[in-house]
Amino acid sequence: MHATNSSPTPSAAAVQREPSTAPALEIHDMTVAYHRKPVLWDVDLVVPEGKLVGIVGPNGAGKTTLIKAVLGLLPLASGKVEIYGKPYNEQRHLIGYVPQLLSADGALTGYENLLIFAKLYDLPRAVRRQRIDALLDLMGLQNAAQQMVKTYSGGMIRRLEIAQSVLHQPRLLFLDEPTVGLDPIARKSVWEHIQRLRREFSTTILLTTHYMEEAEGHCQRVAILHRGKVVAIGSPAQLKASLNGGTATLDQVFAHYAGAEIETSGSYIEVSRTRTDARRVG
Ligand SMILES: Nc1ncnc2c1ncn2[C@@H]1O[C@H](COP(=O)(O)OP(=O)(O)O)[C@@H](O)[C@H]1O
Ligand SMILES: [Mg+2]
Repeated sequence: MHATNSSPTPSAAAVQREPSTAPALEIHDMTVAYHRKPVLWDVDLVVPEGKLVGIVGPNGAGKTTLIKAVLGLLPLASGKVEIYGKPYNEQRHLIGYVPQLLSADGALTGYENLLIFAKLYDLPRAVRRQRIDALLDLMGLQNAAQQMVKTYSGGMIRRLEIAQSVLHQPRLLFLDEPTVGLDPIARKSVWEHIQRLRREFSTTILLTTHYMEEAEGHCQRVAILHRGKVVAIGSPAQLKASLNGGTATLDQVFAHYAGAEIETSGSYIEVSRTRTDARRVG
């Protein structure tokens, strides 16, 4: 911080952050049930400020349930969740969320979708246009702003949804499977834009993915979720170092902790197969 910067004006390009000693997110012993049947058990997870943390696991592991519970969309059977040291309902303004399912309206333009969210977040009229334009630019959608979203590719829709979720400049962003169903080029582009967002706003991010190589390539901390339990947690390097004298891939680490389960998990096998095929042609 420069000494000359004595009366900063918050802007899209330079968000002022009050230093916080509490982590962005702390989950203690969280258990979540649907109709009394637990699907998450005793989850402990810390997301430090400024980090990109990934939850990996196959379909049905409980990734979406974990995010929804943290966001107060599902009740906790037991445990505690704190966001910057306080309960969620006191910290909503600090949070952004991109759900796994589609959250943009195909019959509206990209700009119109963003305008709806800008109004939902109660952004003052005077800053709406500038904030929307800055995010269209950041997410590489400026040229498509006036097109209807139903003409967008899957990757463009995801980038638009990310833009929607950060209009109020949240400090902590939740992305549920941001690249699921996208082809490799679109996935790469979504990742480039997520990293751009982090550089620009220092946003702390918790995301879920079932692509191991994405967790390995982008996340500073990875929690492996298996049948509703966090079975391993650490940096990709730490997780790999914990097996085979450090020669394991993250896939192998996952297989080790998930045991026989992955043999019967269609989604995981599909992902592996796709990746094997990609290596063959690449
Ligand atoms: N609304 C619901 N009612 C009952 N069970 C659910 C519901 N949503 C998810 N589940 C179950 O909870 C488990 C975790 O699901 P989910 O959190 O969606 O996993 P993931 O996001 O990792 O694919 C699965 O067994 C799923 O079938
Ligand atoms: Mg899910």
